[in-house]
Amino acid sequence: MEHYRSRSPISSSHSRPPAYERERGGRGRSHCENQRFRPNNQRQHQSESAAEHNPLNSRALSTRRELYERDFPVYKQPVEVGSFSLDSERRFFNDGRQMRYYVEPERNPNFDLRDGYKDRFVKRDDSVKEKLDHVLRWVVANRSKLNSRKTSASSCALDVDFVTWRGHLTKLLTTPYETKEGWMLAATKFRGTIYISEVETEAARRERENRTERHKEMMYWGYKFEQYTCADNVHGAPDPGGVVNTNEAFCTVVQTRLADHRLLFSGEVDCRDKDPGAPAPPACYVELKTSAEICTPKQRSNFHRFKLLKWWAQSFLPGVPRVVAGFRDHEGVVVSVETFHISKISQLIKNEYNCWRPTVCMNFCCDFLTFVKQTVTEDSPSVVYMFSWEPRRDVTFSVHRDSQFSFLPHWYVEEMTRRPNSHHQS
Ligand code: A3P
Ligand code: MG
Repeated sequence: MEHYRSRSPISSSHSRPPAYERERGGRGRSHCENQRFRPNNQRQHQSESAAEHNPLNSRALSTRRELYERDFPVYKQPVEVGSFSLDSERRFFNDGRQMRYYVEPERNPNFDLRDGYKDRFVKRDDSVKEKLDHVLRWVVANRSKLNSRKTSASSCALDVDFVTWRGHLTKLLTTPYETKEGWMLAATKFRGTIYISEVETEAARRERENRTERHKEMMYWGYKFEQYTCADNVHGAPDPGGVVNTNEAFCTVVQTRLADHRLLFSGEVDCRDKDPGAPAPPACYVELKTSAEICTPKQRSNFHRFKLLKWWAQSFLPGVPRVVAGFRDHEGVVVSVETFHISKISQLIKNEYNCWRPTVCMNFCCDFLTFVKQTVTEDSPSVVYMFSWEPRRDVTFSVHRDSQFSFLPHWYVEEMTRRPNSHHQS
């Protein structure tokens, strides 16, 4: 049974805090409705082949907020099933060597985030598109963990419906509130699992290639804040004199379920609580953020409406419980530090007029995944269903065979087609 809430933006039933579902099934489970999937016109549905112009497949998904104002869907507590590291040269390691430890700064630390930008900064080349490769490397290295519950009779190689990056899911959660940036998500079904990988839009490529010097420097500030607040070892201290290298990353891999969608995704984690008595991952993880200092009611309102939405979505998905924020002035000096508990963010924004709601984010994501499951029917590593969205439009898709959009690498397809016990040593 579904319960609908008022569609009024000033509804007082606004602030039910989202909680993770700890047990299977249960209350509040919602179905995804067909009314959000609409017949689409042929103009929006582009396809590489005339055979794809099947009206039965020509559908679109609305992103209008009012359609997603219903009970919070079941979202199981995410479980960490593994982790991996990328070193200073972006090499993959199936371990936690790049894990860092949070060292709490003073409340007013005066960290200079500009320090080292010119002389101690190695920036990852973001024109290199890694697609899902690192996640797939992790899957290959940990395959036995993922299909242990499957019988040999099953045709499903992995015990999940979707494999993706956390960041792609964050974009989905924030879509009903996004007014500026569209996205393209490529989906391929292979042995029963749908892989979702982002494709850079033309607009995003232009933005990336035309960043101002000021913008480039400001992008460094977030990483510099991480360096001021993280140590490489559990008993160590931060080293603000070192090099900031954005190739390095520690990533968690979590498994969870959103309604009837079984998800496996990975996301970069900034650091963990160094207390040995801290809860197990992902509950011990800490997300670090920087933001402009808040001086006026208007700035506070914008922070609640736009920044906290992104911060909440990013950390809620993998079950990271807190964000430590460094508020900086225009010169890049951190003037104050504050902790935000993810579970308290919906309370914090409840008095904000016409603000975002966690339930809309999660229901939209759920319905998008249902739409993807309905659409992505052909099970083949070289077929890509491209889902595209622009603000104020519906989500549409197109189908591509053996195109430049294919993203599952040959080594992955070969490895996953091999029988589990025929794994060779190399
Ligand atoms: P801030 O978020 O503190 O600005 P993350 O917080 O997701 O771990 O990302 C770390 C830092 O990467 C960000 O810190 C920011 O400096 C940079 N960054 C990540 N994505 C970005 C984007 N889309 N635009 C600009 N900077 C980005
Ligand atoms: Mg961060």
